[in-house]
Amino acid sequence: MPEQRIHSPILRQRVVDAATAAAHIQPGNTVAMSGFTGSGYPKAVPGALAERIRQSNGNGGGKFQINLLTGASTAPELDGVLAEVDGIALRLPYQSDPQARERINDGSLNYIDAHLSHVAQHAWFGFYGQIDVAVIEAVAIREDGSIVPSTSVGNSKTWLDLAKKVIVEINDWQPTGLEGMHDIYYGTARPPQRKPIPLEHVDDRIGGTALKVDPDRIVAVVRTNAPDRNSPFNPVDATSERIAGHLIEFLQHEIANERMPRDLLPLQSGVGNIPNAVLAGLAKSGFRDLTAFTEVIQDGMLDLLRSGVLRVASCTGFALSPEAHASFSRDIEFFRDRIIMRPQEISNHPELVRRLGCIGMNGMVEVDLYGNVNSTHIMGSRIMNGIGGSGDFTRNGFLSIFLSPSTVKGGTISSIVPMASHVDHTEHDVSIIVTEQGVADLRGLSPKQRAQTLIDNCAHPDFRDALQDYFDRACRESYGKHTPHLLGEALSWHQRWLDTGSMLPD
Ligand code: COA
Repeated sequence: MPEQRIHSPILRQRVVDAATAAAHIQPGNTVAMSGFTGSGYPKAVPGALAERIRQSNGNGGGKFQINLLTGASTAPELDGVLAEVDGIALRLPYQSDPQARERINDGSLNYIDAHLSHVAQHAWFGFYGQIDVAVIEAVAIREDGSIVPSTSVGNSKTWLDLAKKVIVEINDWQPTGLEGMHDIYYGTARPPQRKPIPLEHVDDRIGGTALKVDPDRIVAVVRTNAPDRNSPFNPVDATSERIAGHLIEFLQHEIANERMPRDLLPLQSGVGNIPNAVLAGLAKSGFRDLTAFTEVIQDGMLDLLRSGVLRVASCTGFALSPEAHASFSRDIEFFRDRIIMRPQEISNHPELVRRLGCIGMNGMVEVDLYGNVNSTHIMGSRIMNGIGGSGDFTRNGFLSIFLSPSTVKGGTISSIVPMASHVDHTEHDVSIIVTEQGVADLRGLSPKQRAQTLIDNCAHPDFRDALQDYFDRACRESYGKHTPHLLGEALSWHQRWLDTGSMLPD
């Protein structure tokens, strides 16, 4: 029943089907959608738009493409369907969709891979041009036309502020109990009017619980009943478990050395198998009353909240398995007291990350001998996903930790390489590397000390001698001896993999 979720009588009259709503989007438009890590993205309008694009392009008209902006990654029903029909000319700020990735890497889709905290302000500054249409998933529209977001906030506040036209998808699958979990702060401004953000603790609430929008700009409301992406997690494997074990031992060592309190500092955690193993490890290690100031809440964090290991979690979106989503919906009253969902300009804000002293824990593609980390590019040129929020937390966190197996692709690739084939996080920002081999604590070390520590503690035994040989020769023969490199050889490991399928020397 529309009236159960659409409390504005005027907007009830604007309910249409997805195809009618998608007709508001024109070729060449910049379209900004909700969605963050497969949660809270529109489920129907992108598919209807893709169908329109398919028919239009098939009829020999001019090419129908849009520029697509979101919070972060979405799902096959958004990125996937639009990439499949070649409907995206420009994508930002993050994606992890296989079809979009193929288009980006075959050169037919322009992609701007941006720090997630930067996107809202760059949109305000006009760097992305005029936003023509915003498409936002919500659980409800209030009587005054304000919008209660669903399972992600992302950049929706900014899209609603800037878009000429707005389409709202009301998804009946999303629990109405989400209302009250959001904290939408409207105090950000452009310099020089900018003021400090009054958030001192992870659980502070500094804004309202809904997104403001002028109802006159809402041109269509679409009803849906469809799940978020909600992929199941893989069971924790032995390598991830060893990485998690090393990390937890390191955190305990930091407490013992009085560098951190017993309840640690606010945790930020990427999404995936290794972060999941870390969360499982925290559950078993006697920690209590921890906090998380992070982007995404995944299954393991819900478990920590239930058990009291985690006291409160601040985020901008979810990445839950179907089972975890069901239990989250069932116990939503419990979680509403413990989870705060914020716009990503706040969840990832560099000043807040610095002041709260977050512990950033992210995955990586590779790290070089001196601590430069590549999070995004395979063999220096092929994008995987994007930098996401890793830069926001790495540059500004109290601790910047990268977690990775020491080898990938069946042992043919070393994650510790002589020179990173692409750099997202520089040697100046990265503090700790953890592989299943051990922990390299790079704090307070010079470049050559960092290199030796990484070789000794993190490199896989199959690659250790080759790394040592490179480093020793570079120390003798390099043009400069501060950050020794043999330039002609530095990226030869990557070229060897491209040529032979293995980085291992002959
Ligand atoms: N060389 C080549 N390929 C590599 C590689 C390397 N050094 N390291 C990882 N890969 C490949 C894996 O083989 C895998 O490929 P496949 O999909 O063909 O099997 C893929 O990258 C993903 O790696 P996986 O082992 O599944 O690790 P992951 O899920 O932990 O992802 C990143 C690792 C780096 C891709 C991921 O952490 C990421 O996208 N990071 C950037 C964004 C970020 O940090 N966000 C944090 C806030 S949410």
